[in-house]
Amino acid sequence: MKIIHTVSDLNAALAPARDKGFSIGFVPTMGALHKGHLSLVERCVENNDICVASIFVNPTQFNDKKDLAAYPRTPEKDCALLATAGCHIVFAPSEEEMYPVPDERVFALGDVADVMEGRHRPGHFNGVAQIVSKLFAIVNPQRAYFGEKDFQQIAVIKAMAAQLNLNVEIIACPIIREDDGLAMSSRNTRLTPQERLAAPRIAQALRESAHLYPSKPIREAKDYVLEILAGEPMINVEYFEIVNGLTLQPLNEWADNNFAVGCIAAWCGNVRLIDNIIYNK
Ligand code: PAF
Repeated sequence: MKIIHTVSDLNAALAPARDKGFSIGFVPTMGALHKGHLSLVERCVENNDICVASIFVNPTQFNDKKDLAAYPRTPEKDCALLATAGCHIVFAPSEEEMYPVPDERVFALGDVADVMEGRHRPGHFNGVAQIVSKLFAIVNPQRAYFGEKDFQQIAVIKAMAAQLNLNVEIIACPIIREDDGLAMSSRNTRLTPQERLAAPRIAQALRESAHLYPSKPIREAKDYVLEILAGEPMINVEYFEIVNGLTLQPLNEWADNNFAVGCIAAWCGNVRLIDNIIYNK
């Protein structure tokens, strides 16, 4: 596995593969890798001739500078895990390499970016669109792999790729969970032992709410999750919405749609966690 830090070195490393017409798959990450990331890499390795993974903690997508400073960074361990998963090339650029000049672009991401994470983390999705569009331009992959834990992010990246007429297939991969249901996330390492015990209640509440689909009104499923988590002293829900999985707009009735997704953001202590459940798939 090659570890590359500059765009020119990456171009040189990929040139032979491009000349031979090899397919290139891409897994963008911010590092602090866990089994969720590795499942993306494994799928990428399986379905492409070359797998490129990037490690870059992108400052433009952090609306909270404290969150950026606290974001875990474990580059050596990440590279060892990527090698074991069969990744061929790791692209780990510096901030100067990715942003030689400030990126002033503002993306028109449409309604999918205005709700939930978009409302609660102003500027976040524009930052994601900036970095992912740059990485796509550099790697030029046929396929790119993203985890469904960041359900809304996938819709936003599809909107960005459509806006820029990019010829890349965006592949959504299922959430990987700990044994107790907690969705794997790089942020989980920041939970205290007590918070770590409380955090799986988020996934459990989502799972239990699925029992109300489709016999009870959506309102009841929403209230169920909110009430259960209101009883957890360590958990503070920022939002819980049941939305149309394609448009990300709130649903009033299950019957309005055959792709209903419950999306939650909640604080567990000082750590902001997101998770979701697909009710009817
Ligand atoms: O999901 C992430 O880890 C990041 O948002 C991404 C897609 C790597 C862009 O920085």
